Amino acid sequence: DWSMAAFREEAISRIREDVGSGRVICGLSGGVDSSVAAVLLHEAIGDQLTCIFVDHGLMRLGEGEEVVSLFRDHYNIPLVHVRAEDIFLSALEGEADPETKRKTIGRLFIETFEAEAEKLAADGRKAPEFLAQGTLYPDVIESVSFTGGPSVTIKSHHNVGGLPERMNLKLVEPLRMLFKDEVRALGRELGLPESFVGRHPFPGPGLAIRCPGGVTRDKLDILRKADAIYLDEIRKAGLYDAIWQAFAVLLPVQTVGVMGDARTYDFVCALRAVTSVDGMTADFFHFDMDFLGAAATRIINEVKGINRVVYDVTSKPPGTIEWE
Ligand code: XMP
Repeated sequence: DWSMAAFREEAISRIREDVGSGRVICGLSGGVDSSVAAVLLHEAIGDQLTCIFVDHGLMRLGEGEEVVSLFRDHYNIPLVHVRAEDIFLSALEGEADPETKRKTIGRLFIETFEAEAEKLAADGRKAPEFLAQGTLYPDVIESVSFTGGPSVTIKSHHNVGGLPERMNLKLVEPLRMLFKDEVRALGRELGLPESFVGRHPFPGPGLAIRCPGGVTRDKLDILRKADAIYLDEIRKAGLYDAIWQAFAVLLPVQTVGVMGDARTYDFVCALRAVTSVDGMTADFFHFDMDFLGAAATRIINEVKGINRVVYDVTSKPPGTIEWE
């Protein structure tokens, strides 16, 4: 893509000008935007960049390892992998209120990120002066919450909005003139694997908001397995790119079932898939019933702890995409 090749060159010179010999930190989430920003920055300034990946233990199956192997092993980008699962899960213990869960995760994310940045400032090298973010053009023009209008907060979004001022860092936002499809094109231009570039959006609070009610390690493990099977079936059916977002939700409800000749009393798993242009409105995805039946059968057979699967046919509005 000619225009993206030109954008890449220009963006690299601009980053070099802005940053000089300064040190930059960048939060990686595993999502498209922060991944593209990190690779672009690394191309521009090499080891002046350090990425911080706060692994809150609420990622999907294998995702934490994927982030580390792509960035540290493949790209050789200096990466701090913060294993913060215990901190996040113990703070979430027994908490069932969706807003409290979101706020707890947001607060811990910022605290954890700051603590790591402070460690970097004391590592004997130059202290970081810049914070890089994968902010896109739509985020720049509309910095209100995704779902809520100006007067109602439907969900408090997890983001790192207040970080730069708090930490006294200057912002570097190399993607702030781009739309999502352009970020994807730039990612391809930079050689990022399609599995990263074409990825569905994933919310900052992760699987915690797909586990209505209290979050436990056991529930997260069950949810991760069901979600991986569902996405595997979607990929195999060639439907991944036709869907904006697809995921499993583990309901805090147990129902009676029968397996062989034994009674089971296990959790219900809800499957969600939507089409959308920007996440502001969405339609439920019209799967073929045979597809849903096959996915349900696999989940129930392969995931211990789930004995019933339902499909969410709510569009947005009135539903939101995530369940919390
Ligand atoms: P809702 O559930 O509000 O979601 O219809 C709209 C889109 O936003 C994503 N989402 C989030 N993304 N931090 C994020 O970065 C969050 O706290 C958050 N909550 C929801 C959601 O996955 C969907 O794509």
